Amino acid sequence: MKVLVIGATGTIGTPVTHLLEEKHEVLRASNSRSPLKVDITDADSIKQLFGKVGKVDAVVSVAGHATFRPLASLTDEDFSVSLRNKLMGQVNLVRLGVGSVSSGGSFTLSSGILSRAPMPGGVAVSMANAALEGFVRAAALEMPRNIRINVVAPGWIRETLLAMNLDPSAGTPADLVAQTYVYAVESLINGQVLDVVATTR
Ligand SMILES: NC(=O)c1ccc[n+]([C@@H]2O[C@H](COP(=O)([O-])OP(=O)(O)OC[C@H]3O[C@@H](n4cnc5c(N)ncnc54)[C@H](OP(=O)(O)O)[C@@H]3O)[C@@H](O)[C@H]2O)c1
Repeated sequence: MKVLVIGATGTIGTPVTHLLEEKHEVLRASNSRSPLKVDITDADSIKQLFGKVGKVDAVVSVAGHATFRPLASLTDEDFSVSLRNKLMGQVNLVRLGVGSVSSGGSFTLSSGILSRAPMPGGVAVSMANAALEGFVRAAALEMPRNIRINVVAPGWIRETLLAMNLDPSAGTPADLVAQTYVYAVESLINGQVLDVVATTR
């Protein structure tokens, strides 16, 4: 398969890319550090990316940013950034990219377990993640040409906790999470929210 990975340089995107490359041709895209550059908050940038890559069999998004901040201090801009990036950035990959995906191909997006297991400070993140999961479940009913769409909902990643100087024991190694993305690409599942949390190890 020809697989476009957006967010290929990230904590999760790096092992996803390596694992996919074992069996597939991978086109690596991200904001600044990949051969293909894209800004998912910019519709024109997304259109240019799909214009460059031509037809692909799968699109994997391991990008998406939302703002962590307590509810009382979240600004309009914090909400706006979270919606433009994590939510609409990935929704627009589907809306603007669906014509570039071959029949029977797939989209795999990234939400996060905070959609259903909230924590203080995660209001904007939970909101964006829950909306994205709703989008995926519904969009799966309307995808043309047997194109599938799924979303992976990771819990905390071990490497991310380490980078934040937090206890990594509650985190899932990024390598393990990457396997779920590859499963979504290679299997026939559709409209699924795939949780990957430490307790499932
Ligand atoms: N890490 C966690 O603990 C965790 C837990 C749950 C859910 N998630 C979700 O999983 C996804 C990946 O997380 P991560 O921790 O791997 O992220 P990360 O390490 O911060 O990497 C982010 C990736 O996205 C790219 N990127 C950033 N802004 C972009 C933009 N505007 N347009 C296109 N690409 C952009 C970066 O590209 P450059 O390197 O080129 O700048 C990089 O490849 C996100 O949706 C995140 O919310 C992560």
